[in-house]
Amino acid sequence: MNETLNVSAPGRVNLIGDHTDYIGGLVMPMTLNAFTTVVGQKNINRTWNLVSHHEAEPVSIALPVIDPRSITPQWGRYVAGVLNEFNKLGYEIPGFTGVIDTTIPIGSGLSSSAALEIAIARIVILITEIAMSETDLALLCQRAEHIASGVPCGIMDQLCIAVGRPNTATLIDCHTYDIQHIAMPEEIEVVTRFISHRTLVGSEYGDRVNDCQAIEAIVGPLRLATMNDLSHLNDDRLVRRARHVISENQRVRNFAHALTNKDFVEAGRLMTESHASLANDYETSNSTMDQAVNSMLHESGFLGARITGGGFGGCIVGLRHRD
Ligand code: GLA
Repeated sequence: MNETLNVSAPGRVNLIGDHTDYIGGLVMPMTLNAFTTVVGQKNINRTWNLVSHHEAEPVSIALPVIDPRSITPQWGRYVAGVLNEFNKLGYEIPGFTGVIDTTIPIGSGLSSSAALEIAIARIVILITEIAMSETDLALLCQRAEHIASGVPCGIMDQLCIAVGRPNTATLIDCHTYDIQHIAMPEEIEVVTRFISHRTLVGSEYGDRVNDCQAIEAIVGPLRLATMNDLSHLNDDRLVRRARHVISENQRVRNFAHALTNKDFVEAGRLMTESHASLANDYETSNSTMDQAVNSMLHESGFLGARITGGGFGGCIVGLRHRD
């Protein structure tokens, strides 16, 4: 009998540490209670036929994939990107017929695309019985995302989704891929609020990655840089970009420490400081997002708030005391 397979992968929200992952810095996201599920069966055609409850058109992808970017409709490129990466590693993948559903809002900066990639990769692993570590699975999905979307994203989303645990923050060193799970204390809750739709495709995300590479060509690895290194940069924009990354890495360390010590006031303060750094130095916020953060900070019980993820819209995240 052809067994029915059912996998799911959660969305993620980043508590602190944005625009640090693609240069090997520190991040601290957590998975959401919202999931993408893929249910279906292996087929004998070497074709992936998928319908999604949230997309108008189904996709049909013949294996091996020649070019994931040529797949239409566009959402199929994330699937094709993942299948293509397995092909590149030399794996023969059977066909699959399935249905996709999701409770992750699409296009709101909560990593719906990374969740789809991880879910598809998990289906591939189930039907082929390939042995692969969670880190390698996340790296494979990151490469798929680069090709499918053209956005040179870091590893945060895919790795958090692959290894994250419910109600637990995931502290990730994006240079070593070391992971520390930090349970969220009961006294506080994380509030994620959707503000505006956005896509990183065609955004200034790639420009920020380029800025970081330009900085590293002068001062060496940004993850090791200190504020003293800023004096070697004689371009004001690069000084501000570097200042964000250096200070944000330190904020992630301090935030992890504050959470562990139940210093929630300090944890909230660091989140709000992170927002200011992203808005002023990294310029990945906008007035709508700034206002949303500001009004959240005025609501009762909030200790801190910030824009979360790639920016230019999307969601904000806040830390609230349950009392
Ligand atoms: C997006 C990317 C991540 C990360 C964040 C910013 O979510 O996919 O890799 O760079 O932006 O922290």
